[in-house]
Amino acid sequence: MRVIFLGPPGSGKGTQAKLLGQRQNLLHISTGDILRDAIARNTSAGRQARCFVKNGQLVPDEVVNEIIAQRFKKRDKPQRFVLDGYPRTLAQALSFDRVLEEGALPLDAVIVLAVPDADIVKRLSGRWNCPKPDCKATFHTLFKPPARPGICDECGSALMQRDDDKEETVRHRLAIFHQNNQPILEHYRRQGLLVEVPGVGDIDTIYNNVVQAVHGAVK
Ligand code: AP5
Ligand code: MG
Repeated sequence: MRVIFLGPPGSGKGTQAKLLGQRQNLLHISTGDILRDAIARNTSAGRQARCFVKNGQLVPDEVVNEIIAQRFKKRDKPQRFVLDGYPRTLAQALSFDRVLEEGALPLDAVIVLAVPDADIVKRLSGRWNCPKPDCKATFHTLFKPPARPGICDECGSALMQRDDDKEETVRHRLAIFHQNNQPILEHYRRQGLLVEVPGVGDIDTIYNNVVQAVHGAVK
């Protein structure tokens, strides 16, 4: 199964992609996580991305396309995956089409998580993340609180808040999302891959709707 999640910041792409990855045995690839790791490790890509991520701007297409293209060139290239946070521009979608074509890896579905802007700021201001690279669990003080405040339920690490979850930066990320979103939706709609799933409500109910949508889309 090969699936992409699209949706505004805070729509639950990471939450749903992690669940789908764990339960359907798919590799979860998040460009946001890859970039934050690269920044923390101060790699060349991390140095190029740092300012953009901090300010809620898109990292240049060349940098992100190269990260993804390299990941799909490795000997252990992903065969079954769920992608979250990529593509985010039409240029990225076109570049990813080429990567998939070269690897003979056709997509099964592109899931759009629909969440109104009004809910986004509330969600992101309450978000806490596990920083451990092989865990990356996400919590919310109101909607998905950890059993012990500030501690990851899955691995026991201390939870952290993201630098770009300040209200002003979230609004900027939302504006950038809306500037780029329509051409990407059109691109995948033309390919017959687009499925919209409401992203509001209980996390497990959304997950079940996602699974139904994906299975409905897999030929
Ligand atoms: P990225 O990390 O991808 O951030 P984003 O798209 O802004 O999305 P978020 O991670 O903020 O939200 P999400 O949809 O994953 O929601 P989550 O599941 O956490 O990118 C960060 C930055 O990296 C970008 O701004 C850019 O600079 C750069 N970047 C990344 N990819 C790039 C690319 N391709 N090109 C260029 N630049 C790129 O949920 C949010 C919160 O809500 C959580 O607390 C969660 O617990 C809670 N929640 C989840 N579901 C529900 C629910 N149903 N009800 C209530 N609460 C819920
Ligand atoms: Mg995310």
